[in-house]
Amino acid sequence: MSNAPVKVAVTGAAGQICYSLLFRIASGSLLGPDQPVELRLLEITPALKALEGVVMELDDCAFPLLSDVQIGDDANTVFDGVNLAMLVGARPRTKGMERGDLLEANGAIFTAQGKALNDHAADDVKVLITGNPANTNALIAMRNAPDIPQHRFNALTRLDHNRALTQVAQKAGVPVTDVTHMTIWGNHSATQYPDLFHTQVGGRNAAELIDDQAWVEGDFLPTVQKRGAAIIEARGSSSAASAANATVEHMRDWVQGTPEGQWVSMSVPSDGSYGVPEGIISSFPCTVSGGEYSIVQGLEIDEFSRGKIDASVAELIEERDAVTSLGLI
Ligand code: NAD
Ligand code: LMR
Repeated sequence: MSNAPVKVAVTGAAGQICYSLLFRIASGSLLGPDQPVELRLLEITPALKALEGVVMELDDCAFPLLSDVQIGDDANTVFDGVNLAMLVGARPRTKGMERGDLLEANGAIFTAQGKALNDHAADDVKVLITGNPANTNALIAMRNAPDIPQHRFNALTRLDHNRALTQVAQKAGVPVTDVTHMTIWGNHSATQYPDLFHTQVGGRNAAELIDDQAWVEGDFLPTVQKRGAAIIEARGSSSAASAANATVEHMRDWVQGTPEGQWVSMSVPSDGSYGVPEGIISSFPCTVSGGEYSIVQGLEIDEFSRGKIDASVAELIEERDAVTSLGLI
């Protein structure tokens, strides 16, 4: 990577996720210790004053890699020439809501931002959507940016992936680094399917090693699927630092690549792999090399997993149809 600053756009920059995310990006966690970054921060007008305070704090860190910070409320200006775009800004759900309840409230944000990226971002832009409902917001942004190749739009299921890794590590009594080949399939929602049948613990098949289907169905799956709600219940607001961490890790791996022989979960536009209809943005096991990801091919999907994947994909199709009838795509 050259030493010219990479321009990184972040939306929702005065919000709670960004209060962690921006400092991680500026300190080098995203692009490494030799790569300067320029931050382009987008907020709505009433939040610009708070954002000025966040920028003062960024200044006060004297980060060696932070070459410039620009802020604004006009996506066309903020996205001008950006290489990476992390779309976090959206209303979070509160107690009792499902993420899908945010479709209409947040969908409109992503039509405008998709168009602005289309018209102003750099030719190599990579776009990662964290704001919920992340998969369908990514679909909206992608469909409103016809000049950007579709595979440059991803949504975040890395937080679910990380949640699942820790649940397995705790159950197996091993360090989290021993757990590999985790896959989240489908939607970032309560229907997501964390797949233990291809996961490895110290190189052994996790489902065989744990050998406890009651735990898989009664504990592991619901814990991961409903973790977002559990955090809202406990904290009174949705996950923030862990969401920022996952956002950094997804984009870092997309730019810098995945370790040899390993994969991560990324929500990407389906190419029809594993029977997921082409075009919807669904979570798959992915490897990355040279800045391009590939969906891992050839995994055997048993009947149990097939049913779970199909249920989550059906929800994504419903969400796609809902935003189609709202005129958002
Ligand atoms: P927050 O309310 O603290 O911050 C959101 C920020 O977005 C606010 O400052 C708001 O002013 C700003 N915003 C709203 N509309 C905007 C627009 N059009 N352009 C730019 N900024 C805009 O919320 P948060 O806790 O930071 O969460 C942000 C989003 O991320 C929510 O939708 C939340 O549900 C989602 N989230 C996703 C994951 C995931 O794993 N995919 C995890 C956690 C949170
Ligand atoms: C999460 O998974 O923590 C986020 O998507 C926030 C939420 O609404 O659950």
